[in-house]
Amino acid sequence: MAMKVRSLRAVYFSVWIVVCYFILSFYFLPRGHPRHGQSTFHNHGSTHCLPRLSTDDISSALSFNDSCAAYSPFFPSEPNPPRIARVMVRYGTPMEPYEQRAVKTHMKNSIVHGTDLHMLCDAVVDSYWNKQAFLLRLMLEEMGKREEDRLEWLLWMDGDTVVLDQCRPAWSYLPPGYGGDGKEGRKKQELRTKKNSSNDEDHIGLNAGIFFLRVHPWSITFLLSILSFPTYNPAITLPHAEQSAMQKLLALPQFRPHVAYTPWEFFNTYPGSSDGARRYRESANNETENLGGEMWARRGDWVIHFAGHRDGKRRREKMTDWLDAVDATGNIWEEDRVQRDLSDPIRGFWKASGLDIR
Ligand SMILES: *[C@@H]1O[C@H](CO)[C@@H](O)[C@H](O)[C@H]1NC(C)=O
Ligand SMILES: *[C@@H]1O[C@H](CO)[C@@H](O)[C@H](O)[C@H]1NC(C)=O
Ligand SMILES: *[C@@H]1O[C@H](CO)[C@@H](O)[C@H](O)[C@H]1NC(C)=O
Repeated sequence: MAMKVRSLRAVYFSVWIVVCYFILSFYFLPRGHPRHGQSTFHNHGSTHCLPRLSTDDISSALSFNDSCAAYSPFFPSEPNPPRIARVMVRYGTPMEPYEQRAVKTHMKNSIVHGTDLHMLCDAVVDSYWNKQAFLLRLMLEEMGKREEDRLEWLLWMDGDTVVLDQCRPAWSYLPPGYGGDGKEGRKKQELRTKKNSSNDEDHIGLNAGIFFLRVHPWSITFLLSILSFPTYNPAITLPHAEQSAMQKLLALPQFRPHVAYTPWEFFNTYPGSSDGARRYRESANNETENLGGEMWARRGDWVIHFAGHRDGKRRREKMTDWLDAVDATGNIWEEDRVQRDLSDPIRGFWKASGLDIR
């Protein structure tokens, strides 16, 4: 009898494990092939620093997915959305709770849009240069894969960024018609290369804390050049380390033509005044003029960047204010509370630069 109970228990236990395995593997385990509709989170280094998602986090992401699909203009995605992975770095002291909340907004956005997130959890080189070192490592890994299996873009995000609009996908910023490895996509890429060979398929929209980098040999050369900059230019001082090296290199003729600088407000808006978070939550759709410049975040913007908040306490307070505001805001598309939809300006930007290849 005791035997029977034990074996029954064993059966229940293993069934439970299998169910957990499927639920967990859906969200967390690495997979061999890129795919759409599923996201995977990767910790790199000897420690794991990505926060664990609770069942509430996951169900919130899934209900955003439903609500975004029903109300936002980003679903269904364009026919061949480019394969994009988000890349972040966080090492040193354990993440504080507000930092975990910030990273979770990125994890949620990854779930909603079925994209991967790579996080480097241990420094591999000197401080800031870990950004390029990690991007280079991922870039080399991707270039080692078959073209149809590769990611097409890496999206860098600083740790002091928060996703405001979960419905907006990363691909909405890229030149239209650019994605996809289908026959059609390739044909378009060939066409475009013929049309303008000076702007090949390897532009990056650069911003200090947030930028897209095309998976391409050009990007490997670029990242290597940044990392080796101090070695070859010992006399040049770099006030902002790798960022200064990046800027100096991007001014050179071999790099400059392959870069697109996007307007500030596209994906790098700032918190603005001390009651910015309250205004974000409460102001009417047409009440934006009192915000001042275009670079201050408003509902409809994708990501907010808390750049320059070196004071840890102020940074914590400000980010917490905004995280609370974002949690209280819900899906602005469903509630018809969008203050700024950048979709048209983004399309206009690529059209004006000749890179809209649809
Ligand atoms: C999100 O919604 C889309 C469209 O309804 C669906 O195809 C996709 O599977 C959903 N993703 C997840 C993770 O449920
Ligand atoms: C915003 O819209 C409301 C309602 O239509 C109107 O009463 C108000 O004057 C508008 N405010 C501004 C700043 O345009
Ligand atoms: C395309 O090439 C033409 C001719 O060289 C040049 O005038 C134009 O600026 C280029 N367009 C882009 C987007 O680089």
